[in-house]
Amino acid sequence: MLGDFTYSNPTRLYFGQNALDNLRRELEPRGKTVLLVYGGGSIKRNGIYDQVVDIVSACGKQIVEDPGVMPNPTTDKLTQGCRLARESGADLILAVGGGSVCDYAKAVSVSAWCGENPWEKYFLRKEPVDNRILPVGCVLTMVGTGSEMNGGAVISNPETKRKIGRFFEDDAFPRFSILNPVFTYTVPKYQMVAGIYDIMSHILEQYFSGTDDNTSDYVMEGLLRSLIHSSQVALREPENYEARSNIMWIATWALNSLLSKGKATDWMVHMLGQSVGAHTDATHGMTLSAVTLPYYRFLLPYGLEKFKRFAVNVWQVSPHGKSDRAIALEGLARMEEYMHRLGLVMDLQTLGVTEDMLKSIAEGTFRRSGGYHPPEKAEILAILKESMHGR
Ligand code: NZQ
Ligand code: ZN
Repeated sequence: MLGDFTYSNPTRLYFGQNALDNLRRELEPRGKTVLLVYGGGSIKRNGIYDQVVDIVSACGKQIVEDPGVMPNPTTDKLTQGCRLARESGADLILAVGGGSVCDYAKAVSVSAWCGENPWEKYFLRKEPVDNRILPVGCVLTMVGTGSEMNGGAVISNPETKRKIGRFFEDDAFPRFSILNPVFTYTVPKYQMVAGIYDIMSHILEQYFSGTDDNTSDYVMEGLLRSLIHSSQVALREPENYEARSNIMWIATWALNSLLSKGKATDWMVHMLGQSVGAHTDATHGMTLSAVTLPYYRFLLPYGLEKFKRFAVNVWQVSPHGKSDRAIALEGLARMEEYMHRLGLVMDLQTLGVTEDMLKSIAEGTFRRSGGYHPPEKAEILAILKESMHGR
């Protein structure tokens, strides 16, 4: 049965090959100073920077640049960005990049005018935002996180080795996001497949939970099938617009908060992956792929019906003459084959994890209670050990 919920999503999306044409109308009413946030320079190499700057300048805005947002943005970078946002009197934060840049922009937006340490107040203590929030707009260049249409911001503290995601309320969602699938053509293959797997994981985190008949589960099966198809096309033909546009749209659906409404969700793969990320700075999607199968094999007996349904409805496993467990395991085996085909990292060692790090990674893994069997600390450690070498 659907639980009670409130649903709204304030982000206006512009999607398609000419989506950037809409930037001007979004900029016009939003003050004088634009804080232009971007990453390590890919947007300068592929020409997106020039396109954006031309439009912002043509609108007569003053541009203040905040470059160098790293994958897995850090608390130090956040502190620096908040200072720049305050001192420049930014009226709008324009994020041009992937999930890291969009997340960082949202973190600066809620933190710039926070009177205390925002890491402690908003990420550790998860208090409601009670200060001025700067509006954010995104031009997305890399697909995966769903950050373009949610209130999420994931920040890493390298000193304490904690990576924490905070989902803020509506007023911290991007006011607008511009999604041109062509902008993703230059994403390197490693990042592209990591992003694809991030999308898949977002869906699975919301799928493997609950035993009721829930519309979201049917929607998710459709999204997964479309993702599996389009991702394999994009792997062969990175400039296939149909595939890249489908993937981009699935990513947004997967985490724009619609799917989770009224249902239980798990998120333990992300909790494990984030702690791995906090200890290694590894690419987010790969931290998820490395722990997924050991975690789902652990979870399978507790959610057998759903794993069976997943095998049949998503991976087209024939159920005839097989036990429920055999069907469910065949589904995971097909998923494993697909993950290898994509070229995902399937073990923690490749990400730089060593045996002596496992205890600390387990300690840094936040325990969520929405799944079929929230793992105990010892079980978390066992899953991490199992993830070390792949198979
Ligand atoms: O830094 P630049 O030079 O821009 O290069 C980036 C970066 O190296 C590159 N890239 C992006 N667009 C490109 C491109 N290279 C060539 N052409 C383009 N068009 O790709 C690399 C990865 O970018 P990044 O933004 O780090 O990737 P992603 O979008 O996967 O974001 C990852 C971050 O998002 C968080 C993750 O934890 C991680 O910190 N997440 C955010 C979520 C949310 N807001 O809801 C949920 C997710 O589960 C996730 O945790
Ligand atoms: Zn993710």
